[in-house]
Amino acid sequence: MCAVKEPVVLHKGLDNVYVKESKICFIDGEASRLFYRGYSIEELAEHSTFEEVVYLLIYGRLPARSQLEDFTRRIEAYRPLEPGVLQLIRSFSSSCDPMDALRTAVSALGVHDPQPMTDKMQGRIDKALQILAKASSIITTFDRLRNGKEPIAPQPGLGHAADFLYILTGKPPDKYDARVMDVALILHAEHEMNASTFSCTVTASTLADMYSIITSGIGTLRGPLHGGANEVALNTVLEVGDPSRAESYVTQALAERKRIMGFGHSVYKTWDPRYVILKKLGAELAVKKGQTKLFDAAVAIETSARNHLTGTPIFPNVDSYSGVVFHMLGIPTDLFTPIFAMSRIAGWTAHAIEYLEANRLIRPKALYVGEMGLSYTPIEERVEEGVPQL
Ligand code: CMC
Repeated sequence: MCAVKEPVVLHKGLDNVYVKESKICFIDGEASRLFYRGYSIEELAEHSTFEEVVYLLIYGRLPARSQLEDFTRRIEAYRPLEPGVLQLIRSFSSSCDPMDALRTAVSALGVHDPQPMTDKMQGRIDKALQILAKASSIITTFDRLRNGKEPIAPQPGLGHAADFLYILTGKPPDKYDARVMDVALILHAEHEMNASTFSCTVTASTLADMYSIITSGIGTLRGPLHGGANEVALNTVLEVGDPSRAESYVTQALAERKRIMGFGHSVYKTWDPRYVILKKLGAELAVKKGQTKLFDAAVAIETSARNHLTGTPIFPNVDSYSGVVFHMLGIPTDLFTPIFAMSRIAGWTAHAIEYLEANRLIRPKALYVGEMGLSYTPIEERVEEGVPQL
């Protein structure tokens, strides 16, 4: 029974619903193009750094040299964790999922901020930059502790990407690895109104604080249909192991109606441009690290999936090679989604700030199709029917 009289259009998944005007990101899903603030992702990946892209996304324009230097130093200065947050991370079980660790510790940053709420945009941006900087330290510190290693301090002068690899491994990374990590962070920093960005926007629309906004995004990013796909995609490549086994894996998976992770996208109806860049980096890294068999297995899965998924426009997305790249950089698989989150904090912040400039509380509707007018049965008169199977 439907209680609403007038005709209603249901927007399941909110497909094709626009919630705001935006100057942050444009995706042309038909033409395989992605722009941050008007700059193509290819140009940014070629010439920019993660810090520069964060500045661009949040402030809307590329920084001058001195602005970038100040901004980079500011992020660097925010990287160390407060003793209370470090103590909290020490209390986490070594078997806990790093996304749980990140979500909990980011939320706890608000507990250690004497004034987590601020109405001022500059104050909000400052808090977001602190979260962005500390997210890297939370992930790497958690990983060190769970492996029985003591945390180490960030190294001044290293960029955000290089510092991440440094704290993770305890050794300053070589320049090429640091650059690949930097590009991976750039590619994950923003992607228009995806599920986690929408989640952050909804939280921002209630005028909540930045800690709550970013924590919402981390929770939403976690699912295997969004940020979690990169881990599953790499596990598929590792399971296949050898290019010769790719075809049988793909045929069996599709026969069982399983999804091939790293393929398909709600917006791209052709190549995801981030995939193109990551595949190229993956090919170079594979030679450098002597892991060409792993890379070839990923390519064989891609070829086979493309051959079988001909009826529907399903192409590789960012996650088909991001996991392979992170794996070759020596990063544990369960850190891939946290890395996605630490980069995407830039985009979440940019959208939250933009939305708040012309805020309207987000409050959609649900079409009620349940029963009405039932009379309440006293508990002693109810017949036990078993717990409904949902
Ligand atoms: N493997 C096999 N079949 C697929 C896949 C896939 N990866 N993706 C979609 N399909 C099929 C699906 O089974 C359906 O077939 P049918 O109509 O016969 O039931 C058809 O394509 C349409 O599926 P859909 O879910 O309605 O399509 P969508 O465009 O809304 O889905 C998606 C987008 C990302 C949820 C989906 O492609 C998927 O589940 N991909 C695997 C997970 C993945 O790689 N996620 C990362 C997305 S990129 C990271 C990000 O930007 O967040």
